[in-house]
Amino acid sequence: MHHFEYVGDDFCAEAVRLDSIAAAVGTPTYVYSTATLLRHLEAFDAAFAARPHLVCYSVKASSNLAVLHLLGEHGAGMDVVSIGEIHRTRLAGVPGSRVVFSGVGKQAHEIEAALDADLRMINVESEPELDLVERVAEHAGKRARIAIRVNPEVDPRTHPYVATGLQESKFGVTSDLAEALYARAAASRWLDVVGIDCHIGSQLVDVEPFVDAVRRVAILARKLRDRGIAISQFDLGGGLGIAYREGTPAPPHPSEYGKAVLEALDAEGCGDLEVVVEPGRAIVGNSGILLCRVLHLKRTPVRTFVVVDAGMNDLVRPALYGSFHEIRPVRRGVGAPVEVDVVGPVCESGDFLARGWPLPLPEPGDLLAVMSAGAYGFVMSSTYNSRPRPAEVLVDGARFRVVRDRETIEDLTRGERI
Ligand code: LLP
Repeated sequence: MHHFEYVGDDFCAEAVRLDSIAAAVGTPTYVYSTATLLRHLEAFDAAFAARPHLVCYSVKASSNLAVLHLLGEHGAGMDVVSIGEIHRTRLAGVPGSRVVFSGVGKQAHEIEAALDADLRMINVESEPELDLVERVAEHAGKRARIAIRVNPEVDPRTHPYVATGLQESKFGVTSDLAEALYARAAASRWLDVVGIDCHIGSQLVDVEPFVDAVRRVAILARKLRDRGIAISQFDLGGGLGIAYREGTPAPPHPSEYGKAVLEALDAEGCGDLEVVVEPGRAIVGNSGILLCRVLHLKRTPVRTFVVVDAGMNDLVRPALYGSFHEIRPVRRGVGAPVEVDVVGPVCESGDFLARGWPLPLPEPGDLLAVMSAGAYGFVMSSTYNSRPRPAEVLVDGARFRVVRDRETIEDLTRGERI
């Protein structure tokens, strides 16, 4: 569910007309909806309400300070993967006790920053990383709270680039190695074992892979606890998918997902553990759109191209994953829909936002909204083709604020010299 709707013929974000945002801020611009963000956070909170839990929003999905501040203010924790993301959560005022640190290649200075910010736990991904965390903790004279990320080896049935819990993935460690690492960590003066962690992939549309993963990891958790290793938190990662296209089977609602994973934890004797979840896409994906303007129409003998001012540098998902985003006219079109390719100005044939999408033929100057662009949109943008990155706007009811200025031409060469 989201709060982008037509009011009459005008497409609006909550109570703000998108054409008014374009007039004030220009295009391309990412527009986020406060009500949608909070609604999604609440859905996760409600899904786990029966247990002690913490919803750690995955910062990588959209890391704008205003988004982090809004979610943090409403009780969310955060899942971070770099010193840069730690920095963002600090600026957004999210307490370290609500932040978990994931990622496969943490460096010493990042672990130091995590200890300095007194983060809730560091999710360790390998044996050398466990050594590093221990050394950094000793050097800092602080005990590091850790979990070990277990690779449960289940198929998440998603795009191969975002599957992380397969045997061939670079993420986590096998159950056997996890057991050995937990024994080591429990004996260390500088490590404080607090949790167990997994994350199997992103844009999952069924609950079964989650349930399989939780069961497998819970079996290991129980075994470790039987041996006296004090695991109190079960971090099940993120990954719940969203509906990118109306009419396709909808991914499970957070309540269904929550119910299924809590039952799996109960079934494996881990019902008393505090649950940490790290949703990114499910919170912010449908909370954001990319607003762009039509530059030209270009017809070839076989295609109709709608050339817009947003390209693959602004939203790379279609080019990178072949992913689908609906495109809606900001002023409801009148003509019969025609199949068009909506493409950007970047010099690559992979520079498309949608292909073969039915749209009443727009005119140059018309505005379009690229839907479901809130997650992995702005954060994956680049300045390829020396294109300044878009502005970001947050709508709240009838008001909106620019929460990141559009980059300028001067920004493009900052730090460069001849
Ligand atoms: N936790 C960990 C450890 C992760 O690696 C991820 C995402 C998440 C949580 C959040 O997953 P989510 O709930 O958003 O599915 N750029 C890709 C998605 C990459 C996901 C990476 N890890 C895309 O645009 O589809």
